[in-house]
Order: sequence, then C-alpha cells, then structure tokens
Amino acid sequence: MYSITKKLEKLKKSRNAVILAHNYQRGEIQDIADFTGDSLGLSQQAAKTDADVIVFCGVHFMAETAAILCPGKTVLLPDPQSGCPMADMIDAEGLKKKKAEKPDTKVVCYVNTTAAVKAESDICCTSSNAVKIVSSIPEDEEILFVPDKSLGAYVSSKLGRKMTFWPGFCPTHHRILAQDIKRRKREYPNAKVVVHPECTGDVIELADHVASTTGIAKYCRESNVKEIIVGTENGIIHRLQKESPDKRFIPATELAICPNMKKNTLEKVLWCLEDMDAENEVTVPEDVAERARLAIERMLELSEPSPALKT
Ligand code: 13P
Ligand code: SF4
Repeated sequence: MYSITKKLEKLKKSRNAVILAHNYQRGEIQDIADFTGDSLGLSQQAAKTDADVIVFCGVHFMAETAAILCPGKTVLLPDPQSGCPMADMIDAEGLKKKKAEKPDTKVVCYVNTTAAVKAESDICCTSSNAVKIVSSIPEDEEILFVPDKSLGAYVSSKLGRKMTFWPGFCPTHHRILAQDIKRRKREYPNAKVVVHPECTGDVIELADHVASTTGIAKYCRESNVKEIIVGTENGIIHRLQKESPDKRFIPATELAICPNMKKNTLEKVLWCLEDMDAENEVTVPEDVAERARLAIERMLELSEPSPALKT
C-alpha cells in the first residue's frame, strides 16, 4: 500500500494529474484522492482543475461529465467496466421517442445518464440541486424527469409539482428497505436516520434528513447525535467515520454496496496512470459533447459550489 501511494505521488507530479474520488469509492482510494465528493462537487472540481490528466474514481457517466467539461484534458477511469445500471436504463433513442409524444415538455436529466442522453435533455441535475433545478422551470411547463423515478418522486413531493418520470432506479439504493430502517431504529432508538433521495419513498418517509452524499457527510459532521443510521451506499461510511471518529455510523443494510463503484481499486488507479492506456480513457464525440455541455452548464450556472473534501 505504502509503495503504491509513493508511486502515485510521483506519477501525479510527472503527469500533472489530479485524482477525484466519489464518496462511494473504497476507503483506500478516498484516502489518496486529491478531492472526494458528490457528483456535483466532483464535476465542479473537474471544471476548474488546471491538471492535464483527471483520474476519475467513480463510474463511467461521471468520467464522461468530466470529459465534456474539460475538452483537451485526458480523463481516465481506473476500471473501464465501472458503469451505472441506472444510467443504462435509458438511451438517447428511447428518450427521443418519448419527447416526440410531447415535444414541448422540458427534459430534466439526472447526472446519472450517458452523454448521449444529456445531449437530448434541456437541463441536468444532481441529487444535491435537483429541487432547485426543477423549480427553475416555469410552473406552466411540463417536465419529464429521467431516469430516476425515486429522485423524481422526491423532488415532486418537495415542490408539490407534477412531473412525468422515466421508470429508472438505482438497484443499490433499492436494496435498502423500510423494514431495514425500522429494525435499525429498534436496535438504536436514539439514532437519527439520514438517507439518499435515490431510496424508495417509504424509506425516505422514515428519514430525519434526505441529501446527496456530500449533504449526508455535512449532516453527519454537524449533527450532535452520536448514532446515525445511514441509508445510502456503504462506502460513504469510511469518510463519515474519519470526519467524526466519536460517532457511530450504522449502515441501514449491509447489502447497500454498488458493485460498479467497487470495481476501481488502488492498483487500478496506479496502473491507469502508469500506462495511460486508451482503454481507460473516456472520451465523448464533440457533436454529442457540445449538446450535453449545454445541459450541464445550465445546471452549473444555477448551482452553489458543493464542497469537495480535500484529502
Ligand atoms: P451523489 O454523490 O451526487 O449524491 O450521487 C449518488 C450516486 O448514486 C452516484 O452514483
Ligand atoms: Fe449507479 Fe446506484 Fe451505483 Fe450510483 S450507487 S453508480 S446510481 S448503481
């Protein structure tokens, strides 16, 4: 481990590289990353970096977003197979067909989508700004929210606004059941419950707080309770525990593991930077990138900075 870290430090300098890690990455990757954060925070870091190479420790759509925002930079994904099953629940052709049914509908796409789907959308959002993005659309406009029906339903209930949802979902967050939260509350009666909006509505109803992964980290840092039940992918607990060693973080279920997020390993981070292999490089054709960039930039203009943790 020690020698990997040393080698990485050297390579980072010689390649002028930055390492970005999502809050669900393995603990050892979070520890060597320059920044750890949520989807919004990491895309903001990518947009402003002056590094030549971005090693994106996350899943494919995140690296694609970085590639769209940073033309001319090299974006590497340590494991090129780390996709997102939710992002794969919609494609550009399917979205075009749906849009043709109601051409005036505004399409809000969750960042968990391919570049091609973003290119067909009016504006992008992440879990940390979805409420703000949807409320920026005039009340008299119809909205199609893609692809996460759970995040869509959460935003819709927060704003009391009707929207049409694409029937996508996160298989990892849907493994967290209301009965898991109820069981944990019986086991830890003094604990607070914090969950991600990709969870189902019945889980969200049982929560004290609902937020993006960086929002969850903020809540856990600032809360004065000592026990917190966490309803999101369990990789985040590494960060939570590091930031608040005196608190106890209880995963809602041990099953909330995203296998794709875990495909990246410390060795693969090193190898991708050593080899700079085309297999690891994420690129987006410029005609698609240009249209997808519009949807992402519209979102960024409306977003507050999401603090990425500097490691
Ligand atoms: P955030 O980190 O933006 O909350 O996203 C969660 C997620 O599922 C990313 O795949
Ligand atoms: Fe996709 Fe869910 Fe994994 Fe996030 S946690 S990458 S939404 S499958």
